[in-house]
Amino acid sequence: MLRAMRILTGLQPSGKLHVGNYFGAMEPAVRLQDQGEAFYFIADYHAMTSSQNPAALRENVRELAIDFLACGLDPERAVFFRQSAVPEVNELAWILSTICPMGLLNKCHSYKDKTAQGIAANHGLFAYPVLMAADILLYDSNQVPVGKDQKQHLEVTRDLAVKLNETYGDGTAVLPDPIIREDTAIVIGLDGRKMSKSYGNTLPIFGEEKPLKKLIMRITTDSTPVEEPKPVENSTILALHKLFASEADHQSMIDDHERGGVGYGDLKKRLAEAYWDYFAPMRERRAAIAADPAYVDRVLADGAARAREESAKVLQRVRRAVGLI
Ligand code: ADP
Ligand code: TRP
Repeated sequence: MLRAMRILTGLQPSGKLHVGNYFGAMEPAVRLQDQGEAFYFIADYHAMTSSQNPAALRENVRELAIDFLACGLDPERAVFFRQSAVPEVNELAWILSTICPMGLLNKCHSYKDKTAQGIAANHGLFAYPVLMAADILLYDSNQVPVGKDQKQHLEVTRDLAVKLNETYGDGTAVLPDPIIREDTAIVIGLDGRKMSKSYGNTLPIFGEEKPLKKLIMRITTDSTPVEEPKPVENSTILALHKLFASEADHQSMIDDHERGGVGYGDLKKRLAEAYWDYFAPMRERRAAIAADPAYVDRVLADGAARAREESAKVLQRVRRAVGLI
């Protein structure tokens, strides 16, 4: 029987959602939820590979769930759940582990990058791509939208799916297609580098107005005097403004740069307004959702039930293929 295209992605609960995460991951996921049967989950098992703090994990999972719903994830359309609510994923990860050549994991750069950053070199971190492959294969996912940094993990997933089929027969696993968001521009952070938690240059999406707007006033600029034209190339103010403003407003911001006569302080104030207005509807929704914790629990419980229904079918098929039943 033909079924709708299944789109699956996971987001790690790793702290405050920032503008880079929003435009790089969340907004594209929300847009895709209408294109097929979306399965979106909070990758809490994965988060444990780089931080072991129970209180922070609980808090971050809840915050990310609220963020995702506030940003437009529609639980009527998308199956939304936390990864650990379907612990069966670990069984599939184990099965994949037994056919995963060591060389495949040795090649992965995310392990090397993370240990180089000082994260403890634990087995979970090393085996991370196997669990990610299990996430994907457990739902017979067809399309997996991810950022460029996850490209290699999708290659590992496809290799493992092929290996599973070669070892246990065609049809044991469905081969997923990565959807790599090459086109989403890298969002620039307050210091002009890529916006990232690890650089401490992020602009969070949710929070108090004053401190958030103050962050914008801290954007690094050059020392062009008020009356002179300001460079538009590589301008952090303009790069961020483009994300939040209408085309006409953005054009007038460019004009004011080129004409001169407007100081960086004023330009930043306009950027701060555009940013604040852009996220206003999401902020309102977030406040309403955060005030109703039972709603969030219900959404995640419903999502988990739907996810388990699907995962049970796939796992049954795989268990049979490998000889566990
Ligand atoms: P961080 O770099 O802040 O730790 P993560 O690595 O947790 O962010 O990223 C989570 C998601 O957000 C990924 O899909 C990633 O591609 C996306 N993302 C993060 N920062 C940016 C950025 N500056 N521009 C575009 N996308 C980003
Ligand atoms: N590793 C992904 C990230 O850090 C999160 C993730 C876990 C994921 N499992 C997944 C993404 C399965 C897509 C599919 O961004």
